[in-house]
Amino acid sequence: MLISNSCWVIFTLVFPALAIRQTPDFASDALGLQQIQQHGNATLEKRDDVPAGFTTPPYYPTPKGGWVASWTDSYAKAAEVVANMTLAEKVNLTTGTGLLMGPCSGNTGSALRFGIPNLCLQDSALGVAQTDNNTAFPAGITTGATFNKALMYARGYALGQEARGKGVNIQLGPTIGPIGRKPRGGRNWEGFGADPALQGFGGSETIKGMQASGVIATVKHFIGNEQEMYRMDIPPHGLMKAISSNIDDRTLHELYAWPFMDAIKAGVGAVMTSYNDVNGSANSQNSKLINGILKDEFGFQGLVMTDWLAQIGGVSSALAGLDMAMPGDGSIPLLGLAYWGYDLSTSVLNGTVPLERLNDMVTRIVAAWYQMGQDQDYPLPNFSANTADATGLCYPAALLSPTCVVNEYVNVQADHANVVRNVSREGITLLKNDNTTLPLTTSASLKVFGSDAQNNPDGINACNQRSCDTGVLAMGWGSGTANYPYLDAPIDALKRKAANVTYYSSDTFPSGLTAATGDIAIVFINSDSGENQYTVENNHGDRDGSGLVSWHNGDALVQAAAAKYATVIVVVHTVGPIIVEPWIDLPSVKSVVFAHLPGQEAGDSLTDILFGDYSPSGHLPYSIPVAESDYPSSVGIVGFEVTQVQDTFSEGLYIDYRYLNKNKTSPRYAFGHGLSYTTFSKSSITLTSITPLSSLPPARAAKGSTPVYSSAIPPASEVAWPTGFNIISRYLYPYLDDPASISSSTPFTYPTGYQTTPQPDPPSGGDEGGNPALWDIMYNLTVTVTNTGTVAGKDTVMLFVQYPSDSPYDTPIIQLRDFEKTDTLVPEGSETLTLSVKRRDLSVWDTVLQNWVVPVSESEPFVFWVGNSSANLTLACESLNGACSSGRTPPVV
Ligand SMILES: *[C@@H]1O[C@H](CO)[C@@H](O)[C@H](O)[C@H]1NC(C)=O
Ligand SMILES: *[C@@H]1O[C@H](CO)[C@@H](O)[C@H](O)[C@H]1NC(C)=O
Ligand SMILES: *[C@@H]1O[C@H](CO)[C@@H](O)[C@H](O)[C@H]1NC(C)=O
Ligand SMILES: *[C@@H]1O[C@H](CO)[C@@H](O)[C@H](O)[C@H]1NC(C)=O
Ligand SMILES: *[C@@H]1O[C@H](CO)[C@@H](O)[C@H](O)[C@H]1NC(C)=O
Ligand SMILES: *[C@@H]1O[C@H](CO)[C@@H](O)[C@H](O)[C@H]1NC(C)=O
Ligand SMILES: *[C@@H]1O[C@H](CO)[C@@H](O)[C@H](O)[C@H]1NC(C)=O
Ligand SMILES: *[C@@H]1O[C@H](CO)[C@@H](O)[C@H](O)[C@H]1NC(C)=O
Ligand SMILES: *[C@@H]1O[C@H](CO)[C@@H](O)[C@H](O)[C@H]1NC(C)=O
Repeated sequence: MLISNSCWVIFTLVFPALAIRQTPDFASDALGLQQIQQHGNATLEKRDDVPAGFTTPPYYPTPKGGWVASWTDSYAKAAEVVANMTLAEKVNLTTGTGLLMGPCSGNTGSALRFGIPNLCLQDSALGVAQTDNNTAFPAGITTGATFNKALMYARGYALGQEARGKGVNIQLGPTIGPIGRKPRGGRNWEGFGADPALQGFGGSETIKGMQASGVIATVKHFIGNEQEMYRMDIPPHGLMKAISSNIDDRTLHELYAWPFMDAIKAGVGAVMTSYNDVNGSANSQNSKLINGILKDEFGFQGLVMTDWLAQIGGVSSALAGLDMAMPGDGSIPLLGLAYWGYDLSTSVLNGTVPLERLNDMVTRIVAAWYQMGQDQDYPLPNFSANTADATGLCYPAALLSPTCVVNEYVNVQADHANVVRNVSREGITLLKNDNTTLPLTTSASLKVFGSDAQNNPDGINACNQRSCDTGVLAMGWGSGTANYPYLDAPIDALKRKAANVTYYSSDTFPSGLTAATGDIAIVFINSDSGENQYTVENNHGDRDGSGLVSWHNGDALVQAAAAKYATVIVVVHTVGPIIVEPWIDLPSVKSVVFAHLPGQEAGDSLTDILFGDYSPSGHLPYSIPVAESDYPSSVGIVGFEVTQVQDTFSEGLYIDYRYLNKNKTSPRYAFGHGLSYTTFSKSSITLTSITPLSSLPPARAAKGSTPVYSSAIPPASEVAWPTGFNIISRYLYPYLDDPASISSSTPFTYPTGYQTTPQPDPPSGGDEGGNPALWDIMYNLTVTVTNTGTVAGKDTVMLFVQYPSDSPYDTPIIQLRDFEKTDTLVPEGSETLTLSVKRRDLSVWDTVLQNWVVPVSESEPFVFWVGNSSANLTLACESLNGACSSGRTPPVV
């Protein structure tokens, strides 16, 4: 979702009223200017056309929704409504009304006869975007660092409550793709960390929370959206295609689609496709991905929407399984042109798009609306993403728009600041703490350095969608942001908490300072990234300019402080890993704290930890390598290429710690690393076999029934303009000037492989999330954690699986499969945690069988490693004999 500054200038000339509140995400890169400017960075690699072997076979027709038990009631209600709808009403719900044609980032048409309003779609994954009186929550990456499922849920619930309070029907979050394959990737921070299990739990807990509030959650971006640059198709289509993420089938299933399975298992109502292609086929009309994987294998029952302006064809996307076009515009936005809307009416009347496909689109949308209870007292939008004024144009993109009351300034914050503070505090990750430098005493003499400790002097929301790195970095930039209601800056919290604080706000170390004995320097540095429509300090969304180096010469600031002060604490606000080698081993750098992206409670959440009110319990949701070159070149940002940029995922399953382990490279800080002020012991570990292992899951059940409707093409008059209709110019309608003239004289050439006979039920499917047996618990592992130190704290237990050594499938040495966190344990307090290993956790995706296979072995066990990081595995249990032990040598360096 995007808009470039250059286009924004043009559009603000055309629509001056819009300049007030920042833009909806859109179109900008329409002209591809940013991409082309990037040409020539020698650090960016040129690639070949889609390499051999990376294909997307056709998969038709779209499996109809409604056959899953947990959606039966909602589908029954939806079917009754849809059976009574006119063609115009059906088309209305599938198509956005156009960019800037309603209060929200996206707005569908309505079907008011059935009580269905224009549905409001609004960002973001960390708060209601482009409004006021909302909460700015911590980012996904911060939430992932908590390794706390209950907090993930609590944040999701509060996010959903705010969306509901503002009248948002469909919230555009959580983000679980990108997964973080590329350390420089621009939007990794919106998600939960560089591991499919961590993304899966983060996403599914967030979804359960959001949807308990009644909002429809949207998981995005499906799939392979691992780089921001060149992500979009440049119209006219074919001039330059969007980047192609070339992913093999096994890697797609075991790494990138894995968290989407969790999301669907959790009952998510909507999925957003990504801008990029996969294997040379655009994701918004990729029948293999939408029809085949999402809707058949994974049994997805909700609706699939495009990312903003990602649609590149009308009939093609309908046949491939798309259900909602957002924001509705065709290849050139704002002109009242659409691929769907009136043209979907045409395609149904002329028989090219089967009526049953349209019925399925609408049924999925209406069923999701019922599934979350939105037929019961759900608020209408009471805010406008287009302006902060109380009144404004109802349809800013129209040539002539009436004026509406658009902002009611509804305060939806409730007590969510507590949720923010809890998550931000628990995400704080203590990487180093020599000589027990932390926690601090409130009487310490503190010298604070770096602009990242204070608020942006121009205002906390001064930069459009946070598209600058000025002041404390509490979220990245782009559509995945929200306005701050306030931003508690670290320096303000430090001054409230401690008696003797001196602040130097410059990022250049002040000359002439004399350190007194006992002075402690706290140095704030950061590293930012975001969405591609903004370029910030020569970074085009991705950290292509800065690399994994702290911004504003942060390394030099730390080094200078370390040269002067005997005790230095480094606080890092960052979207992802930075290389810490320039200073990490300096003798006076005693403590390093990664506070990630804390949201509005950046101050108190930090001082809670720095002064020991709470012991830190965050863990790294990615590895910090010694050097970026410790990763393969395939996870670098790929560069410009005429026609199509190719990004081949040649490292396969080996990203982050999976790669480092394979290559026997020790990181500086391992995935999961995080220190505490106390110590814990783990004891009484047991492994219980719950379900006997078998190579293949039990056969799935056949699909249940789906709604059946009349197959008669409706009368053309259903999409004639109603008499006396007050047409808003450029607004997208389902209506046609002369519907009776539609004919199907010239035969339509369907895509290769198109068929109308349903595909056989895939063996890997069977329910939401796939074959339900994939979710059967095979083993439970219990372990007792005891606080053996002197202060209260929480510990995290992570469970990594090592596959049998005789497995024929080349599989990462260890993979995270579950984690649990204790409650606060007082000294000598203990708690027994249970972690589970499900069938999927022991499976590989067999590309020949097209099924999940457990490489069961007669002689070689699965080994379940327990520890608190990928490099600190202290206990192990074996699957074959159930024996558990400590002191076994881990298989990774
Ligand atoms: C390319 O990016 C690197 C940083 O990754 C930067 O140092 C270099 O100046 C850039 N080159 C050009 C030509 O923009
Ligand atoms: C659909 O129409 C039938 C009659 O044609 C009516 O009995 C029924 O109540 C309608 N259902 C809804 C949900 O409008
Ligand atoms: C379609 O939606 C528009 C509002 O977006 C509304 O004006 C129109 O009446 C709707 N059409 C029908 C048939 O409900
Ligand atoms: C039906 O209409 C669609 C949308 O305008 C068009 O793409 C398609 O070619 C038409 N099919 C026939 C058979 O005329
Ligand atoms: C919050 O809403 C109130 C009205 O209830 C309004 O006065 C205030 O300006 C809003 N806050 C912001 C940040 O816009
Ligand atoms: C501080 O920590 C360093 C490194 O861990 C250690 O070598 C040194 O002895 C410690 N100094 C004190 C005073 O404890
Ligand atoms: C603050 O710390 C300095 C040492 O840097 C000390 O000289 C001064 O007295 C302290 N001030 C207060 C108010 O404690
Ligand atoms: C493993 O790491 C070493 C050292 O960084 C590097 O030279 C080598 O190319 C890597 N091996 C692979 C297979 O990437
Ligand atoms: C296994 O652990 C899960 C929690 O992870 C629990 O819900 C389930 O009841 C346990 N099963 C058995 C048989 O103990």
